[in-house]
Amino acid sequence: MEWTIKSLDQYNTDYQRSLNDTENYWAQIAKTFTWHKEWDSVLSGDLSNADVQWFKNGQLNITENCLDRHLKDKGDKVALLYVGNDPLEKEVRYTYKELHEAVCKSANMLKSLGVTKGDRVCLYMSMVPELLISVLACARIGAIHSVVFGGFSSSALASRIEDADCKLLITNDAGFRGNKIIELKEIADEALTLDQCQCIEKVLVHKRVGNEVQMKEGRDVWWHDLYEKSSSDCPAEVMDSEDPLFILYTSGSTGKPKGVKHTCGGYMVWASYTFENVFQMKDEDVYWCSADIGWITGHSYITYGPLLNGATTTMFEGVPTWPDAGRFWEIIEKYKISHFYTAPTAIRALMGKGDEWVNKYDLSSLKVLGSVGEPINEEAWEWYNEVVGKKNCPIVDTWWQTETGGIMITSFAGVTEGKPCFATRPMPGIEPVLLDENGKEVTGNPAEGNLCVKKPWPGMLRSVWGDHERFKQTYLSAYPGHYFTGDGAKRDEEGLYRITGRVDDVLNVSGHRIGTAEVEDAIDEHPEVIETAVVGYPHDVKGQGIYAFLIVRSEQNEDDLREEIRAEVTKHIGPIAKPDKIQIVQGLPKTRSGKIMRRILRKLAAGEFNSLGDTSTLLDPSVVEEIKKGLR
Ligand code: WT7
Repeated sequence: MEWTIKSLDQYNTDYQRSLNDTENYWAQIAKTFTWHKEWDSVLSGDLSNADVQWFKNGQLNITENCLDRHLKDKGDKVALLYVGNDPLEKEVRYTYKELHEAVCKSANMLKSLGVTKGDRVCLYMSMVPELLISVLACARIGAIHSVVFGGFSSSALASRIEDADCKLLITNDAGFRGNKIIELKEIADEALTLDQCQCIEKVLVHKRVGNEVQMKEGRDVWWHDLYEKSSSDCPAEVMDSEDPLFILYTSGSTGKPKGVKHTCGGYMVWASYTFENVFQMKDEDVYWCSADIGWITGHSYITYGPLLNGATTTMFEGVPTWPDAGRFWEIIEKYKISHFYTAPTAIRALMGKGDEWVNKYDLSSLKVLGSVGEPINEEAWEWYNEVVGKKNCPIVDTWWQTETGGIMITSFAGVTEGKPCFATRPMPGIEPVLLDENGKEVTGNPAEGNLCVKKPWPGMLRSVWGDHERFKQTYLSAYPGHYFTGDGAKRDEEGLYRITGRVDDVLNVSGHRIGTAEVEDAIDEHPEVIETAVVGYPHDVKGQGIYAFLIVRSEQNEDDLREEIRAEVTKHIGPIAKPDKIQIVQGLPKTRSGKIMRRILRKLAAGEFNSLGDTSTLLDPSVVEEIKKGLR
């Protein structure tokens, strides 16, 4: 790309320019994309008013930038490499031409089901090519996709469908995941019988596994029946820059998950710009991000980012440890992956299986390693660097969030320096600040504080779906004029950033973001539970584990109750939110005003008894001793 940053000097100049001459900086980059009409203003609105707009009145369609624009020079290049769960299954490749055709046909299929611009479409699918194709098919016709991770339960799916008022649901019969089969259609059917979920008119079902499923007359349609009949001619819907592109639900510290709203123009520029500069790919390189498209990483860095830049993106259906712990490395060898992007939890899990699994394979194709989703600990960083990268591959530790649309703090592979456990430097356009409890900026180096961002950036969320007030409250009110990330961070002597983790009641379990309040609400549904408090504790592989303290009504068989509680959470959220430890207690540490002191519970769960702090202000300090004795 003509704007790719190629040296530390250029990074420094670009960074300064992006802050001092923001509009011209982004205009020059945005101009390299395909637009139907250029914007009237690059940036308008601001964080204080919660009315940020980028490339206002510009007209475009992101799929023309992902697909059509590459047809001339890269039509026969592989756009998507699909690797199934079972190593014996043959991989599938889509060239840019083929992916373009598949997206157009699918887009016409959605139209034939009555979907039009602005309608919401829910995608509840496993990692099949048709998931990525459906995402782009929605974008092609201006429908707003809302992907719900295939591991969520029927009630979590139902509430997301309902919140976004989705008209169409796309799912597959079932999904393969390691040695498991996930019955997606059955779970979707259950979701649609919950009475809150009346908005869905049609269900489009892709066949992956071939298991028997119920097809409801008049509502359910097979993908393959319609697909064959669909034309491959589908001109892209012309969208305004600020028209919504997608909604993606994510957990916060309070209430139910929020539908993070991203829009077309700014998100496109941000996904492409960040992908290009962070990964520094060459045309012949092969990129693989092991995330699921159900999360933002899969939106920005399996789907949009790589395709916007004409790269080959790999999509993997399975899990790292099936059929054995060599699966990732086997894929890297077989497909000569050059750029590999994964989460610390996977690195730690595989590290635990031993180096021999890695050393069995030829990983010499690797050039760049990426990490995302949670802080990476030193040991995992070193192992990734030495055993996987043979000290030959720069590691990019990329910090960002569902809300930020794309990477915010990171190094650029081979261009700016990496440092173990440090995300390092802000992207051009990003002005991070560390604020203390009183909202005062902590200046100078080193420093530590709550991580905020001072200025709007193109990829930022524009709102919370259906609740603009909540958007303001959650992100823009804690520190007026700033975007608050919910994370804490440190800055070292040289000004490099290290993310220390969430400072709110949000957990990060195996890279999955889970609100403690959500888990508590689920547990509270159990009839025997009077009160519960959920906190995170350090976990060797998952990063954080979930610890639930409960007060119950009567004497219980504790083991049975624990199973029931786990089942309750699985039912309301999904297996990813199941508590690892459940302790039944007589009382919870509360202040005199009745507020649960989670700080104390966190310390107890972590076994840090010496730093409990002052417990004398508790309503009943003796509960602390009681909890300590019963810790699991
Ligand atoms: C939270 C966002 C970023 C896409 C996947 C997760 C944590 C993310 C890092 C990192 C330390 C990280 C933060 C953030 N996080 N990346 N490189 N180092 N922490 O997106 O589900 O919206 O979660 O993940 O705590 O706030 P998400």
